[in-house]
Amino acid sequence: MKLNYRTFWRKSGLKGRWGDVYLSRLEKYKPKFFLEIGVFCGVTARNTCDYLFQIHGNNFKYTGIDLFGTKKNLSNDEVEPKFLKDQKFSNPLKNFYYNYIVKENLNSLDSVKNFLRKYENNINLIAGDTNTVLNKVNLNIIDFAFIDGGHSYQTVMNDLDTLYANLKGKNKVLLCDDYGKASHIPEVERAINDFSKKKSLDINVIEDRFAEIIT
Ligand SMILES: C[S@@+](CC[C@H](N)C(=O)[O-])C[C@H]1O[C@@H](n2cnc3c(N)ncnc32)[C@H](O)[C@@H]1O
Repeated sequence: MKLNYRTFWRKSGLKGRWGDVYLSRLEKYKPKFFLEIGVFCGVTARNTCDYLFQIHGNNFKYTGIDLFGTKKNLSNDEVEPKFLKDQKFSNPLKNFYYNYIVKENLNSLDSVKNFLRKYENNINLIAGDTNTVLNKVNLNIIDFAFIDGGHSYQTVMNDLDTLYANLKGKNKVLLCDDYGKASHIPEVERAINDFSKKKSLDINVIEDRFAEIIT
């Protein structure tokens, strides 16, 4: 099956070829119960649902967690990627369309819900800080988690610890963004290294960007 990550005229954390690199991990593991931490504008969510629908029909579930504008716990500790700071687009047409015509905040729960409406029976979107809400989610069933939310040491460690407490020994996939040189965030790398050392787990680095850990 040809992998074709699309951006749908929105913003995505996975630009250019990175979308297809990401989809290749779904192609490898074919998860049915999927979790994304850090939904942002929903583009990776939509590509994930499109891909899982192609291979499983309606027999898949996507859960996505994001602050969606709610307050984060560790406000002064969080490391925010530059493109998140405000809703500015390099394409002036896009800027005009989203900020002045439709006045839509693409990182809002309403906007992402509407964007994913085709899959309304497959998705569960949760607004909140993973440091508070992740342990309230039923994580036992997750096959594949894409961890791309808060980028501070403490948040990445919390996300990994909470997931691992539920998935240990089950051979499930934890895919973390921003580990390698291609989009390096030092706190993310440090948290993933400390976590894998603590739990004696191997890190498989994908294309010098993603860190993949099998539980
Ligand atoms: C890099 S973006 C995610 C990009 C997205 N995965 C994609 O592929 O387009 C990070 C997202 O994580 C969210 N976020 C940051 N800290 C968070 C936290 N502590 N809990 C939940 N979401 C968080 C931000 O609101 C932002 O939308």
